[in-house]
Amino acid sequence: MEFDIVIHGGQIATADFLFDGDIGIKDGRIAAVAEKLSGGDRRIDAGGRIVMPGGIEAHAHIAQESATGLMTADDYYSGSVSAAFGGNSSFIPFAAQHRGQSIDEVIETYDARGARSVIDYSYHLIVSDPSEEVLTDQLPRAFARGITSFKVFTTYDALVLPDAQMLDILTVARAHGAITMVHSENDGMVKWMNKQLAKGGHVAPRYHAISRPELAEEEAIHRMVQLAKLADAPLFIVHVSTAGGAEIVRREKALGAKLFAETCPQYMALTRDDLDRPGMEGAKYICSPPVRDAATQDALWHHVAMGTFESVSSDHAPYRSDETGKFANGAEVPYPRIANGMPGIAARLPWLFSEGVVKGRITLEQFVALSSTNAAKTFGVERKGRIAPGMDADIAIWNPEATRRLTLGDQHDNMDYSPFEGLELTGVPELVMTRGAVVVQDGALQAAEGQGRFIPRAPVDLRARPGVAVKERDPAQNFGVSFP
Ligand code: URP
Ligand code: ZN
Ligand code: ZN
Repeated sequence: MEFDIVIHGGQIATADFLFDGDIGIKDGRIAAVAEKLSGGDRRIDAGGRIVMPGGIEAHAHIAQESATGLMTADDYYSGSVSAAFGGNSSFIPFAAQHRGQSIDEVIETYDARGARSVIDYSYHLIVSDPSEEVLTDQLPRAFARGITSFKVFTTYDALVLPDAQMLDILTVARAHGAITMVHSENDGMVKWMNKQLAKGGHVAPRYHAISRPELAEEEAIHRMVQLAKLADAPLFIVHVSTAGGAEIVRREKALGAKLFAETCPQYMALTRDDLDRPGMEGAKYICSPPVRDAATQDALWHHVAMGTFESVSSDHAPYRSDETGKFANGAEVPYPRIANGMPGIAARLPWLFSEGVVKGRITLEQFVALSSTNAAKTFGVERKGRIAPGMDADIAIWNPEATRRLTLGDQHDNMDYSPFEGLELTGVPELVMTRGAVVVQDGALQAAEGQGRFIPRAPVDLRARPGVAVKERDPAQNFGVSFP
């Protein structure tokens, strides 16, 4: 066969095994994988390198207004460039519905924003207004277009939904093969803590973590899992930040729940001490749920290694440390008025490789699963996340031995800080391609704006998640009632 590109001489890493071999690419797809391939209009020497599926970033806020209307610093151009420099070949940011907006309008808005991406992209919707029309017409229309996941919130005034609405929305997702993602923190607990802290004048950034207790996350995760079981619907817990939350996920998965989850580097790399930096410096580390402590870091690493999480995602939520971002409400405002979120889309994989694979906490195969393969399966990205004939040639070539000190400059985003600045990392993604087109090579951008394409996604893969029998749903045990 004639190949457009042959990547030769590297160690190919998949989620299941490693082997030394070559990859032939034709028309943007992997056409052959073999011990030796000749030919190729272009031959890329991967000697001494690891060749793996390009990362799929499944949690990022790009060109998105927050719950309070604040626009992120990154758009689909800068966000996708930054993602590519971090080893990603595609990403799935959020497309947020604000109350009163139709889902069709949201998708139209993000189609225009997404068109600037240099890597392939899809969106998870954020649903804040599940009206009858949204549930019966608009969401099914979005699912039919291949937008098969959406996020809901148990907190934030502009986004929080009551339990009964959660059940409605989970039921619609179930009927259409879609998956509900949830930001889980108990709203009442957070509001009560805010009130207590404000009474004592405790409003500096360091109190942010205190205000959002671990118990608030654990309660909301537990509640959402029970709601999803009652609706017999799949659920994805985003940004798990606590040992207790991770333990609920582990236990419920072991019982068969249709449950998926992720954690993020910041919960394993940072602690609440970072919120206690001098002056307003701590504002840079405000995100929700908050960063915790060293014991939590160890517990989350344990769960990452044991397979509790499908993915380690960045939750890239870029708000600059100035009046356009963190300090949009003023320079010295109390912590509840400081924008939530931190950047990390370029740091996610280099950090996970260095701290995870190089330090022996996870295997290279686990790295591939956590960075790409599992996200593809969970979110229905059928042609990405694997190195196999027929798949898109979404490939990252890593130098596993190169070392560097992470700087803001090498993040290639629109930010004015990186929470990971100064970390010494081993392992660099030297070449990243999307559908056979090189996006980044040797530290230089090779792609044009708008080169990325929208990815229509398939329904969630539930083959390994049988679900949990709920007797009250069972007509044999409930006097014959059937539920949607
Ligand atoms: O603080 C964060 N994580 N901001 C982004 C929005 C979210 O909840 O994921
Ligand atoms: Zn969230
Ligand atoms: Zn987020």
